[in-house]
Amino acid sequence: MTTERWTPDSWRSKPIVQVPGYPDEAALAAVETQLATFPPLVFAGEARKLKRNLAKVAAGEAFLLQGGDCAESFLEHRADNIRDFFRVLLQMAVVLTYAGSLPVVKVGRVAGQFAKPRSSDNETINGVTLPSYRGDIINDAAFTPEARIPDPHRLLMAYRQSAATLNLLRAFATGGYANLDQAHQWMLGFVKESPQSSRYREIADRITESLDFMRACGIDPEAHPELRTTDLYTSHEALLLGFEQALTRVDSTSGDWYATSGHMLWIGDRTRQKDHAHLEFCRGVKNPIGLKCGPSLKADELIELIDILNPENEPGRLTLIARFGHEKVFDHLPGLIRAVKREGRNVVWSCDPMHGNTITAGGYKTRPFERILKEVIDFFAVHRAEGTHAGGIHIEMTGQNVTECTGGARAISDADLQDRYHTHCDPRLNAEQAIELAFLLAEELKKEKAGRERVRVVAAE
Ligand code: PEP
Ligand code: CO
Repeated sequence: MTTERWTPDSWRSKPIVQVPGYPDEAALAAVETQLATFPPLVFAGEARKLKRNLAKVAAGEAFLLQGGDCAESFLEHRADNIRDFFRVLLQMAVVLTYAGSLPVVKVGRVAGQFAKPRSSDNETINGVTLPSYRGDIINDAAFTPEARIPDPHRLLMAYRQSAATLNLLRAFATGGYANLDQAHQWMLGFVKESPQSSRYREIADRITESLDFMRACGIDPEAHPELRTTDLYTSHEALLLGFEQALTRVDSTSGDWYATSGHMLWIGDRTRQKDHAHLEFCRGVKNPIGLKCGPSLKADELIELIDILNPENEPGRLTLIARFGHEKVFDHLPGLIRAVKREGRNVVWSCDPMHGNTITAGGYKTRPFERILKEVIDFFAVHRAEGTHAGGIHIEMTGQNVTECTGGARAISDADLQDRYHTHCDPRLNAEQAIELAFLLAEELKKEKAGRERVRVVAAE
């Protein structure tokens, strides 16, 4: 277990992977120095509140809904994109709260999700090889030698875009748009002839009835901020550590260090080596931390990583994001869950059904929706068998009507992918697929609840 002193730059003396080679290191350092003078994007108190909410998830009393773009892009920084994403995330949360009967902690992959790990340093198209695209905070997706050169000024653009996105999200979350009374309104914005629209309308009607009932009892929903506003937290992969370091600040109320680039940071599956830079950086900031757990992660290794990231065993600090692929959940998840249980560690278990299910079809990277659902169903089944809480979902999604993942109620085919394939990186669920997934999750949550109640009855007998 590491006992060395932590500083915001102690990661710099550790081995590191997935870093871009900047041609002008001095220009990068100058930008980082400038960023360090900029205001924080989020406050420590907000990160602490998220941690308290995640502690409830760890205790089985809430569900974590984490989703958004694979990679945000400078080109698509439009208000309607942000609004549509927010709406779909809220719609999913409404379905989960009403059909699954659990409070939902909402965390966007948004307002800072710009840096991407890549499986290969280079990309070859028609015999031409160039450095890989690593996300808009680093280089440009265009396939030209100039575009692929890492440019430090992109850090400043990413900071400003994150600030503007967060500003709009905060306005939506608190300014009336998230009012539960508007559930019908959002419904109208949802594609009318959608195969899911009747199920969604049913839930919207139930909410309206409940609110009418409250009014009839003399309770004014307008007077209750919890019905008018919502909490939406931000998260991204803590990959570009120079950027993260520049936004890491001491919280004046507690004296602790917080990353202020977003409320929650996660460590990717490719950068979770225990003696490497990404672990070192994340162990020292007090934000809630996510850890991607892929098929190569062994149970004893996971316990070592938990020792480093959450030595005090604080509930809500650590979210384990399982991403094995639709055929591998039973091979890997039970062993990890048992090790965590045996060692008495408090964690949130979340399921990323996206990153283990990427295939290529007709020249497009895609993810078959039925494989995504299968991974989710198996994740819940394993947790039911182990008696642990399937605590959350981590997805790549958009509010736009894209054709990036095949399948779903509209049966998007391989041939349809070319119609509206807009992602800068991985294929995302579109709005309808995301809501369809929420209905499935609600069913699984109900099963979990029924299982718990059975256990309680047996225990009481
Ligand atoms: C991601 O979440 O976009 C990602 C790259 O995931 P992973 O680290 O699990 O591959
Ligand atoms: Co991705």
